[in-house]
Amino acid sequence: MRIDPVPVLEGHIAVPGDKPISHRAVLVGSLCEGETRIVGFGRSADTEATIEAVRALGVGVEEHDVDTLTVHGVGLQGMSEPAGPIECGNAGTLMRLLAGIVAGQQGRFELVGDESLSLRPMERVAEPLRRMGAAVETSDGHAPVVVEGAALRAIDYELPVASAQVKSAILLAGVQAAGKTTVVEPVPTRDHTERLLERAGARVTRRPRSVTVESAQRLELGEVEIPGDFSAAAPLLVAAAIVPGSTLAVHRVGLNPRRTGLLAVLERMGARIAIYHRRLVGGEPAGDVEMRTSELVGATVLAAEVPSLIDELPLLALAACHARGETVIRGASELRYKESDRIEAVVEELRRIGGHIRATRDGFRIRGVPTRLRGGIVDSRGDHRLAMLGAVAGVSSSEGVDLRGADAVDTSFPGFFEVLEQLAPDALHYPPAT
Ligand code: S3P
Repeated sequence: MRIDPVPVLEGHIAVPGDKPISHRAVLVGSLCEGETRIVGFGRSADTEATIEAVRALGVGVEEHDVDTLTVHGVGLQGMSEPAGPIECGNAGTLMRLLAGIVAGQQGRFELVGDESLSLRPMERVAEPLRRMGAAVETSDGHAPVVVEGAALRAIDYELPVASAQVKSAILLAGVQAAGKTTVVEPVPTRDHTERLLERAGARVTRRPRSVTVESAQRLELGEVEIPGDFSAAAPLLVAAAIVPGSTLAVHRVGLNPRRTGLLAVLERMGARIAIYHRRLVGGEPAGDVEMRTSELVGATVLAAEVPSLIDELPLLALAACHARGETVIRGASELRYKESDRIEAVVEELRRIGGHIRATRDGFRIRGVPTRLRGGIVDSRGDHRLAMLGAVAGVSSSEGVDLRGADAVDTSFPGFFEVLEQLAPDALHYPPAT
């Protein structure tokens, strides 16, 4: 796909429902009594894999339209053993959270994924679940993950790496375990699972660096409304921050403070950001975000804030290429274990289009120049976040970008190019259909 530079980005948009919350709403809804109605579901390849996965476990899911579902929960102990392996596709959140759920169910469950997911570390979730009493096997630390469910016991667990996925897996096993399960985090990570479990009636005690769940008798959600996905808004917000003269408003987007580190760092860099109409949507902070272009200066990002912008760091690296002075991002070695090695990939792709960026062991060092990057070829390597990065790099460049593997956006935001087109008419040129 060819993406031409645009003179300016302007408009008002909405983005699909939050992906992490959409996964969790279906998964927690499956453990609930009765019906959970999900409104504003973020439909994507990843979240569709979650619907199929719970169906394979005997949970009924009705799809009323693209973003409204009803999950017919089977209760805390009601899942059935599937006929074959459960396909998690590209979705790390699904594989890790589901491992925690099936650890407390009766039967043998084999979780498989695509090539990229099969390269990602799974012992980090297997190990605590074994301590809770489940038999969990990985293939040399990777998928397939085979779980034999058991009557679980509670644990106190200190996470070796900051990971909301691992924390969530333990909490989802924890509500099924006898006793109180506590997870201690090195750095606070997104708390969507805690919020949903609390809403479903579980006893959850939250402290700044740890969370405890108690064994639950029954869970019940009723209705869950999902705000827009901040991580889907982020590429468009960054585009507006760096394409001169732009103004963009994203409406009804999730603003959970454990997700919006990008806004905090961009503000430090001099971005002009306004937030209107702050409210709660489905128990999550949300609001309307407006971004106007401004002159940016370099910043330092430290490990303590990395989880709050982990998926946005590639975009921050692009913004930093446009900022005056140096930007240093530290404590982000987890980026090497995402859908691609996002440290190597971001450095190679941004360099190819003119960025002055280099990889460090645990992040990036960027020398910004306040002008458009040249442009050229960007390859998504099958990673949705890199595909969106390449598109933003295209509209903000001086010569445009040939984006290889653009369809990777389907993983999290299938309508991404339609939304970008609304803001930048004529910038996108699709390859002829074959
Ligand atoms: C997610 C947590 C993060 C994030 C991922 C979604 C979640 O991963 O990168 O895109 O839904 O909990 P880790 O928990 O592995 O850091």
